[in-house]
Amino acid sequence: MATFKRNLRISLGFYTVYSDSNPLKRMFDPTQVPAPAPAGQIHPLGQALIAAVDERDRHTGEHCRRVCVLAVELGRRVGLDAAALDLLHQAAALHDLGKIGVPDMVLLKRGRLDEDEWEVMRSHADRGARLITAAGLHDAHALAKIVRHHHEHIDGSGYPDALRGDAIPLLSRIVALADSYDAMCEPRSYRDALPAAQALEIMRGERGVKFEHELFAQFEQALFELGV
Ligand SMILES: [Fe+2]
Repeated sequence: MATFKRNLRISLGFYTVYSDSNPLKRMFDPTQVPAPAPAGQIHPLGQALIAAVDERDRHTGEHCRRVCVLAVELGRRVGLDAAALDLLHQAAALHDLGKIGVPDMVLLKRGRLDEDEWEVMRSHADRGARLITAAGLHDAHALAKIVRHHHEHIDGSGYPDALRGDAIPLLSRIVALADSYDAMCEPRSYRDALPAAQALEIMRGERGVKFEHELFAQFEQALFELGV
């Protein structure tokens, strides 16, 4: 596994600038590793929705792009066929679409969310699914289902429907792994970005709770193959 740079934080007036400690960002740096080819093309309407996420919050948009690349790599590793990879590509790119409906005071809050605010934040899974259905994208039903369930945990402790194990769509479980890893490798206003090794260690401890063992093993291999 690659050696990861120590996170560096520099305060500039009211703003805080973070170094790019997230190893997944190297996938988008042509001087580091070549970006893996995405699976298929996203319909122009889907592209418009992705652009809407970018306009709403650039950090969410960038997160979705990284999750997309990592999820597709994991999908390839577990042997998804071309149609499933194409669906995964679109679902991963749109997994946080529902955040465009989360108010600024929650989405952009500096500091920890309280329980009421978390409830609003958790609504993004359902909001995203509803937006995809309303947009009438090709495969909207399947896409909406994957997006709706990307925060479920295999022990039933996730949301919005507390699904367990295989009741959670496989593509949702794939997006969840990529999503969790990238989220931990990104800074929050109340914590620094976690080093990649620490993020992985936390996720290893969540096997059997959030993630199943076999898919997690494939995920670690996917990270290795990507060189991140
Ligand atoms: Fe999410």
